[in-house]
This record gives sequence, structure tokens and C-alpha cells, in this order.
Amino acid sequence: MSRKPRSKTRKLQLQSLSILGVVAVVCAAAYFFFFQPASLLSKTAETQTIPESSITKTAHADFPALFNVVETAEHTTTPFTLHYVLTGKALPDALLKDYIQQLKESYIQTADFTGSNNLVLDATVIPYQDAFYSFTLHKRILQQDVQVSSETKYFFYDATAEKFVTFKQLLNHEEDKLATIVALLRQTVEQNSQYDHLVNAFFMQPDYVPTWRDFERFTLANDALTFTFATNSTPALMDIPLPTEKINDLLREAYQLPLPKMANVVPADYVLDPTKKRVAITFDDGPSPTVTPQVLDTLKKYNAKATFYVLGNKVEESPELAKRIVDEGHEIGNHTWTHPNLVNLTDEAILDEYTRTTNAIIQATGYTPSTFRAPYGSINERVQNVVPLEAVMWSIDTLDWKHRNPNATVNIVNANLHNNAIILMHDIHQPTANALDRVLANIQAAGYEMVTISELSLYID
Ligand code: NI
Repeated sequence: MSRKPRSKTRKLQLQSLSILGVVAVVCAAAYFFFFQPASLLSKTAETQTIPESSITKTAHADFPALFNVVETAEHTTTPFTLHYVLTGKALPDALLKDYIQQLKESYIQTADFTGSNNLVLDATVIPYQDAFYSFTLHKRILQQDVQVSSETKYFFYDATAEKFVTFKQLLNHEEDKLATIVALLRQTVEQNSQYDHLVNAFFMQPDYVPTWRDFERFTLANDALTFTFATNSTPALMDIPLPTEKINDLLREAYQLPLPKMANVVPADYVLDPTKKRVAITFDDGPSPTVTPQVLDTLKKYNAKATFYVLGNKVEESPELAKRIVDEGHEIGNHTWTHPNLVNLTDEAILDEYTRTTNAIIQATGYTPSTFRAPYGSINERVQNVVPLEAVMWSIDTLDWKHRNPNATVNIVNANLHNNAIILMHDIHQPTANALDRVLANIQAAGYEMVTISELSLYID
């Protein structure tokens, strides 16, 4: 009790001291304001101050959860042009603005005031699912038009939770999953000569123990998780993408892609029986609302399984037929969107033909195709490298599209039938559907099972 008055006195003393302090600072500021010691102020302005900038913030054209920001300062010695991204949410934006502020400060501190400087920041946004974004902010500092430093900062943003997610959080803090990532990276480097610059990277060392900090530079997209690593040569940085199918299970459940099941009709417990003879019947270019239903009815009559290499645009027109193909136990395969000769297309156009078709099949059936056939069987090494599935050819061409004659179709199949044959027909021509009953009866009478391409591939691979 007795100590109370004493502490009160002490508080008063402290307050008066701090008032004195404030008065002193104000006086000093007034002195500088009115008298402006020229030498001191101008030096401060040139060497210490971040130039004034103008900021334009607009809604991001592609991603409604984000804003595009352009911040520019037109200054004679230390201008800058910064493109970056904001989220419109307090916490993530505080972090982003803090990064931008640090960037400007270090730029001014290291600027060379004997000549021109420039700071340029570029932003890239990569979406993942509906509400996740990887941002990369790429910084370049130039002095006398020569780049003196560059750096890329990586962010992974969860727009639903309004927060940034670290790689450790993405993998649910599980270190054994990090070891799997390292194993996948090593495998990628060892199997692809394009990553030769990384054979001596830190994660390739046999005694390397993975740490989360080594994997902060990543972007996650719907097709791949990509890491950026430094090399000891040119290029200084290299990206290694790990396909989503390989890493999806490693992600925390909330971040996993709802990947469709493979439309591979071979059951997991399938027992190989090499003593049986079998053929795979394939139907290309459909589905056709007028022909495919009859084909499916005839296959059902003989308990035969077939593979349908469908065109994406026709699946989009008749999704219920694509669904029926899968529901009745047949295999569905990708035969491109517009049936082009792929060898004449650019890599980008080939991938577009493939991806659009796979997406249409997923949309219609819930399954992703695990088999692909190139239109006209026209394939080369480049096309095959672009398309993620190996192109399947055929061994018996019925030429049904050409002669349009049921008897000819029946005769060609009979004359060429062999074990492990792949028979090519088209479920867009009525004569083919009309020939099918006899074709299947003959194949069955000759002792062959009629299986899908996936099932056949178990025997011929
Ligand atoms: Ni075709």
C-alpha cells in the first residue's frame, strides 16, 4: 500500500520527461522545416527516399478474387515499374505490401546515384482449381541498363480461407511426403536429359536430408506441381514439373484435385489367362446417335467388350451415348476433337485437341480415358511426345468407311482373324452396324474372346 504514491510520482516524472522529448523533436523538425539546411536535406532526398509513385489497382481480368496493381515512379535516377497482385483481403495484402515496401527500400539503398537505376517487377498468376492461385513476383534491378540482380518470390494463395499456404502446409506437415517429392524429383532428373544441369543439385546428393525451406519456390497448377531450382550453369534456374497425378495423393485433402477415375475397364483382380485367344474390336469417330446404339445392342447380345475411340465434339453433342458406352463395360478412348492429321499441327494445337476431348469425356462419363488413337493412325515422335497416352494402332483394317458394304466387312475380318488382333471399324456408318452381328458371331465361333484395348494390352505389352 505504501508504495503506491511513490510509483505515481515516478509516473509523473516519466510523463514530463516524454513531453520534453516530444517538444525537442518538434523544435528540431521546425528548425529543419524553416531553415532547411540545404546540404543535409538534399542528400537525404537523393540517397534515402523512395520516390513518389502512382498506383493503379484494377480487378484482375481472369481471376475475380484478385486485383492487378501497377505502381510506377517516374524519377530521374531511381524510377520503378511494379506489376503485382493484391487480394483485397487485409492479412494477405499486408504481407504482399510489406514485400513490395522491402523491395523498394533495398532498391534505394543499393542504388548507384552516379547514373540511372531501374526496378522492374512482373507478376504471374497461375490458378489451381477454383480458389487457389500461385503468384510469382519477378524482380529485376538495373543499373546503367545492365541487370545487376534478379529474384523471384513465390506465393500460394487460398482465396477461400483468405490466406497464404506454405509448402509445408500443402503437404500437411508430413515430412515423409517431402521425401517422396525428393524421390520424384530425382527420378525426373535421372530419366530426362533435359535436366542434366541439375544432376549435381542439392537434392540429388545421396546424403541429402530434405528440409521444407528447400522447397519454397513452387507453383501448383491443375496439371503439375513445379519447383524452381538453381543450376551452376546457364540457365541459372530450371523448373521441374511433377505431374498432378503423381503428387495429388501427397497433398493435404483440402488441396487435392478431384481426379476422375481412369476409364480402364480391367478390374484390379483380373487374372491373366494366356491360354485363351482374344481380339479387341475398336470403333472410331463416333459416337453417332443413329449408329452407336445399334452397335452397343449387338455387342451386348454377344457379351462382347469393345473400345470406342470417340471424337470430343461428338461426345459434347451426345454425352448420353458416351455415358452408355462406359456404363455397358466398354472402354472409351480419345480420338481428338476435330479428327485432324496431328503431324501437321503445332504442339499447342495437338495438346488442345487431346485435352478438350479428354475433358469432354470426363464431363460426360466421369472417367478419364486411358487410351488414345491418332486420326488416320498418323503419328510421329513429336506428336507422341506431346500426347500423354501412347497411340494405339490396329492390325485388321475393315475399310468399312470406304466400301460401306456389310459383306465386305464380314469377309475382311474372317480372312484376317488372328490372336491379339485389333480390329478397326467405325460406328458412324450404318452398314458397319448391320455387319456387326455376323462379325461377332464369326469371332465367337472361332473361339476368340472380345476384350477392350486395356485388357488386350495386358497380353501384348
Ligand atoms: Ni478416325
